[in-house]
Formats: sequence, C-alpha cells, structure tokens
Amino acid sequence: MKNVILIGFMGVGKGSVAREVAKNSKYMTIDTDDLIESMENRRIKSIFEDEGEAYFRKLEKNVAKWLECSVKNTLISTGGGFYKQNNLKKIGVVVLLDSPFDAIIKRIKEHPNAAKKLKKRPLLADLKKAKELYNERRPEYLALADIIIDVTDKSAQHCSKELLKKVKKYA
Ligand code: S3P
Repeated sequence: MKNVILIGFMGVGKGSVAREVAKNSKYMTIDTDDLIESMENRRIKSIFEDEGEAYFRKLEKNVAKWLECSVKNTLISTGGGFYKQNNLKKIGVVVLLDSPFDAIIKRIKEHPNAAKKLKKRPLLADLKKAKELYNERRPEYLALADIIIDVTDKSAQHCSKELLKKVKKYA
C-alpha cells in the first residue's frame, strides 16, 4: 500500500475524511498539524502567534522529510499549506479534497463547534484574505493532485468510499 496524502484548503474536511477512511480500511492515519502540535507541545495558533508563520513552515518541512523517509502504508492528512513541500509527490499518492470557498465557509459555520474551528485557524481570521489565499492556492492544488474528490455537500463517509475506490488504481 502506498501512502495517501490528503491536501486541500482549511476546513474542507481532511481530518474527518481521514478518520472515516481509517475506520473502513487498513490504513492508519496521521495528521501533520497534530504531529507539529505534539512535538512543540503547543497549539498551531500559539506557534503562529509566538514564532510567526515562517517558523511553522520550517516545522512542516521537517515533517515532510520524515514522512518521505520513514512513513509507509499510511493515510496522511495535512494542513492547508503543506502542499507547498517540494517532496509531496515522493511521500505518496496526492488526493485533493476540493470544494468552492463559500461552501467550505458554510460547512465550518454550520458545525456545532464553529467558533472553535474558526479561532484555531489564524489564516481564517480575515475571510476576505482567506478567499484571496484560496484563489491563489486552488490552481496549485489542482495541478498537484493525482486524484480529485469534490466534497461539496457530501458526507465524510461518501468521500471516504470514493477515495478508497479511486486509490485502488495506485496501490
Ligand atoms: C494552514 C492550515 C491549517 C494549519 C495552519 C496553516 C494553511 O490546517 O496547518 O493553520 O496554511 O492553510 P487545516 O488545513 O487543517 O486547517
């Protein structure tokens, strides 16, 4: 089994889909933000506040190197900016979870923990800037993806089934 690496914009549902895939397959799952938080023993929000974004991106680079060298047979969910790592394709099959910006924001706002979900993501603090970031990144996400899954109005369960079916081709 090759690694599967999930990319996509903040709030698109990478974590939920990864957990659903892990429930229904042999994949174990890890998340790059969780790895960083546990190694730093602080939240992403605090890392951004205390050290700045550049420091966080360096940590992502370290994680990317480790994933390439040491991780196998795993479904890896990533932070929305992790796709910039230049060894992404060496880590595994790249799966993009795709959805329009407004649908992503609607999804977050309808979540019972909406306030927490917005608060923990420094780059979503200003929605106008976040939309610009989305517009800048989307063509790059599309260009990198081996597989694209449109997640708009679909449950994590539905997306997970679609992912497992499409990934089979690359096993
Ligand atoms: C970021 C996305 C976040 C987290 C950090 C930066 C980004 O992860 O890595 O706040 O640059 O898009 P999620 O995509 O899980 O929100």
